[in-house]
Amino acid sequence: MEKMIKIFDTTLRDGEQSPGCSMNIEEKIEIAKQLEKLGVDIIEAGFPASSIGDFNSVKAIAESVTNISVAGLARALKSDIDTTWEAIKNAKRPRIHTFIATSDIHMKYKLKKTPEEVYKQAIEMVRYAKTKCKDIEFSAEDATRTRPEFLYRIVEGVIEAGATVINIPDTVGYTSPEEFYKIIKGVRENVKNIDTIDISVHCHNDLGLAVANSLAAVKAGATQVECTINGIGERAGNAALEEVVMAMRVRKDIYPRKNKINTEEIYKTSQLVTRITGVEVQPNKAVVGENAFAHESGIHQHGMLENKETYEIMTPESIGLSKNKMVLGKHSGKHAFESYLEECGYELDKKEIEEIFVRFKELADKKKDVSPEDIEALIDDTKIIEKTYTLKRYTVNTGNTITPIVSINVEKDGKIIENVAIGDGPVDAAFKAIDKIVNVKFELKKYVIKAVTGGSDAQGEVFIRLEKGEKYYNGRYASTDIVESSIMAYMGAINNYFNEEGRK
Ligand code: KIV
Ligand code: ZN
Repeated sequence: MEKMIKIFDTTLRDGEQSPGCSMNIEEKIEIAKQLEKLGVDIIEAGFPASSIGDFNSVKAIAESVTNISVAGLARALKSDIDTTWEAIKNAKRPRIHTFIATSDIHMKYKLKKTPEEVYKQAIEMVRYAKTKCKDIEFSAEDATRTRPEFLYRIVEGVIEAGATVINIPDTVGYTSPEEFYKIIKGVRENVKNIDTIDISVHCHNDLGLAVANSLAAVKAGATQVECTINGIGERAGNAALEEVVMAMRVRKDIYPRKNKINTEEIYKTSQLVTRITGVEVQPNKAVVGENAFAHESGIHQHGMLENKETYEIMTPESIGLSKNKMVLGKHSGKHAFESYLEECGYELDKKEIEEIFVRFKELADKKKDVSPEDIEALIDDTKIIEKTYTLKRYTVNTGNTITPIVSINVEKDGKIIENVAIGDGPVDAAFKAIDKIVNVKFELKKYVIKAVTGGSDAQGEVFIRLEKGEKYYNGRYASTDIVESSIMAYMGAINNYFNEEGRK
């Protein structure tokens, strides 16, 4: 029988440690639910002892997903393990993931402990975690720079103490496929009872080898791969889930291992993570990049017309791209529009569908063909919850010989408020006018603009991240008018701030 590989997704924990990738609780729940649809076996929902915000989101995720294991990360400390257990105990399948560094450099300079002290702490803490939870994962941090004999000893000890999964992380992205293959093989050949538990790997991408190293480990007998969507993660990131999974699917001959991933959900999951973090993947990124299925050269195009397999090793449909070719335009009715949304798997309520349909009609009047990407952008915008401030009107006066001036007119609690400002360009002027209206000081952390499709009539999609205190608020909007996208995204972020805890 073909062996199974478990897919452990750490987008919400290691992924979130990526600069600019922090997410709020609602966003994390949305990603967790999508990861469940994608078919991952385990999600690492966060590091509960690191902050109260992380604790709350891990707890909320543990209570929101039903079919998959939910892991919480804990240092090998009683207090971390207690906090983690409190956060995950309501999950259907909770897992405590505890770790301690095992390389000489980490033990000496970071932990300031002897190997003997580290060994003792690891065993005691796995034993302690086991009194709370059946499923315990133990990670030997910086395993690839750990002396092999010490690695075997500590792994054997934690298995005896009750670990159900042992993880061999390449914490600093230092190893190579050949070396990592030997490390995993070494663990398999030198640790007692290793076949009774899962061997996991967790590779960082500092040398661009995270996926290759993970696959080498699979060949050497690893049974779980830890990865993140779009490869986000600490520093250069983690092994990208979509790359590991598609490599195993396309090259079944080399990696004859099954997994539970529904690959047709890959593109949607990648887009969701991009939308929520505002971090775009590079156009030439494997599997999910904008150009991953684009054929530019004439020779390639000719080959593709004759037989797609000349230049395509996997189909766009296999990752859920262009699954639905239905063309929507200004003559499409509400019924066709609704069934399109249903077929694409969007879960929207009646009010949201109404709102998106109105915007779709407006867009179809301006643009001949409305693409699936256009519709996805409209859907993303409409998910903004309640609106404290609703834009009524704006006017922009700009040119190369005048100072841009923008007036903004909004409604709040049935009252109209208007203000005007000048700025360095119309977007800056618009934001300043809105600031005067809402009278709260935010810091603009991110402003990203991109064309949703090609052509000069493309919608410009704006992503905004505002920071206030320790927290941040996102807004997103797409329109063929980029000043409107900017204003609406800015107001979306502000409305998210006001919605939180019912601020007025
Ligand atoms: O990279 C690493 O070593 C980790 C561990 C906590 C598993 O993220
Ligand atoms: Zn990591």
